[in-house]
Amino acid sequence: MQLLPTLCFLFLQLLPRGGDASASHSNPHRSAPHWLPATATWYGSPEGDGSSGGACGYGSLVDVKPFKARVGAVSPLLFKNGEGCGACYKVRCLDKSICSKRAVTIIVTDQSPSGPSARAKHTHFDLSGAAFGHLAIPGHSGIIRNRGLISLLYRRTACKYREKNIAFHVNAGSTAYWLSLLIEYEDGEGDIGSMHIRQAGSKEWIAMKHIWGANWCIVGGPLKGPLSVKLTTLSNNKTLSAADVIPKKWVPKATYTSRLNFSPVL
Ligand SMILES: *[C@@H]1O[C@H](CO)[C@@H](O)[C@H](O)[C@H]1NC(C)=O
Repeated sequence: MQLLPTLCFLFLQLLPRGGDASASHSNPHRSAPHWLPATATWYGSPEGDGSSGGACGYGSLVDVKPFKARVGAVSPLLFKNGEGCGACYKVRCLDKSICSKRAVTIIVTDQSPSGPSARAKHTHFDLSGAAFGHLAIPGHSGIIRNRGLISLLYRRTACKYREKNIAFHVNAGSTAYWLSLLIEYEDGEGDIGSMHIRQAGSKEWIAMKHIWGANWCIVGGPLKGPLSVKLTTLSNNKTLSAADVIPKKWVPKATYTSRLNFSPVL
C-alpha cells in the first residue's frame, strides 16, 4: 500500500492548532477483560505467517519474531480503522477433542472482513496458519486447519515484547515537510489513539494525523530535529513521550528506537 501524502495534507487542514500536553489518564475502575465469542479462519500457508505485510503497514516485520506466528487479521470492530493495529488478544478454541487449553496470543497486524456473518458487530479473526495451528493440542494442527472455520473465545491482553522499546520507523517518502511514522513494539495496550510531535527548542506538541494502519503523519515545516514524539493509547489514554527520539539528521526508511515503553499491563 502506498502512503497518501495528499490525504494527510487534507486531514491536517482540519486539525485544531497546537497540541495537548496533558498528563496521562487512566481509568482505575476497569474490570478484568472477559472472554467473548468470535469466529476464526486462517490464511496464507499452513505453517506460515499469514499476511505478507498487512493492512497495519508493519511490512516485513510480520515475518520475524516476535510477530512471527502471532499474526492476526481482525474484523472492523477490532481493527478500528487501523487504530487497533498493534493490540494483542488471547484466543482459544473450545472443542476439547482437538483444542489445547492454552490460549494463543496474537497481535493485530491486518484487517479481515467481518467473517461468515456480515453483521457489523460480529468479531472475526483471520489468523496465520501457524497461529491457527497452535490452537490445537500437539499433533492436531492439521486437523484444526482442515476445519477451516471454528468458533473461539477471545479477550484483550497486554502486549509484551520483552527487552524491546518502542520504535519509530520513518516511512519512505518522508521529507522535512512531510513526515510519516510507523510505530512498532508498543507494550501494554499496543494501540494508538493520538500522536504528537515536538520540534527542537519548542514546547509545543503538534498533533499528527492518523493515515492508515499504524502510520501517522504530519505536514509542516521544515521540521526542526531532533524530534520528540508523544503517544497516547487508544484504549486507555496512557501517554508516553520519547524525547529527541528522531535525530536531527534522520533519514527515510530508518527505524529509531526509544529508551521507553509502556508497562506490559492493560
Ligand atoms: C481518551 O480521551 C479522549 C479525549 O479526551 C476521550 O474522548 C476518550 O473517551 C478517552 N478514552 C478513554 C478510554 O478514557
